[in-house]
Amino acid sequence: MEKISDYLCRYKNYIFTAGMTTAEHIDSLQSFEIRDSDVFVVTYPKSGTIWTQQIIISICELAGGLNEYPNNMEQMPWLEYTEGRPDDALRPSPRLFVSHLTPMLMPPGLKEKKGKIIYVMRNPKDNIVSYYHFSKVVTVLESPKNFDEYLEQYLTGNVLGSSWFDHIRVWHSNKDQYNILFLTYEDMILDLKGAVQKICSFLGKNLSEAAIEQVVEKSTFKNMKKDLKANYEFLPEEKLNGKFMRKGQIGDWKNTFTAEQSERVDRLIQERLGDLNLKLIWE
Ligand code: PPS
Repeated sequence: MEKISDYLCRYKNYIFTAGMTTAEHIDSLQSFEIRDSDVFVVTYPKSGTIWTQQIIISICELAGGLNEYPNNMEQMPWLEYTEGRPDDALRPSPRLFVSHLTPMLMPPGLKEKKGKIIYVMRNPKDNIVSYYHFSKVVTVLESPKNFDEYLEQYLTGNVLGSSWFDHIRVWHSNKDQYNILFLTYEDMILDLKGAVQKICSFLGKNLSEAAIEQVVEKSTFKNMKKDLKANYEFLPEEKLNGKFMRKGQIGDWKNTFTAEQSERVDRLIQERLGDLNLKLIWE
């Protein structure tokens, strides 16, 4: 891994947080055996990962057949990190994973349409603001000096997960190779029940109306915030010195962005992703 700062390192054209994984582990994913029943949530950081994780775990629990784990991170671990990594070959099915990786770093078996991926995108202005606040409370990332400087870093892709623009492009342009469901954070906010129903149907889980309502209840911001298995307050203070569950809204970017910064992001979206005709919801 090439060190690029005290906090970040680059490997295979992707930026990781220093010390959380190894080149060997990332290489090993190329021979990782995928099972048909594997489910992956894939996102650019701060796009609704732990929210979707909670929805999927709740669905699978109610559908039956999930073992108990102390928290969502152990039930559905990050694919790319080595710390606390279970022996995936020994995990019972269905194995659930979360990941921020790009297609070329993911297990190639997924391209045979084995396993399922749920990709969640969030509008980049709320995404940056969420990421900015997160970087101030999580000790594995450098605390930004101010928003302007952070925006610069984010727009050049010099953050964990590399460029938001590249992540969106590469997953959208490779989608035909995968068994993949695209969702947006904003659609989930505007119609949580609809998102739960879509996920159930994609996973082939037939839940009763009452069970679907239960999943929705467990996954609201208010309830997740006090759910000790889901709110990531189980992370030790030396890693997280603040809240994962911050605001959970669409449009918070307006409290931080200047008009000029907002226009700059609009221009970049047009230039770099205009041909994808993304449906971005800003408020
Ligand atoms: S991470 O670090 O990449 O795993 O973060 P991620 O989970 O992708 O994103 C964190 C943001 O998602 C918000 N969140 C929610 N919003 C609405 N409803 C629910 N239930 C929910 N759960 C998590 C969380 O608050 C972060 O967004 P911000 O804007 O910072 O509040």
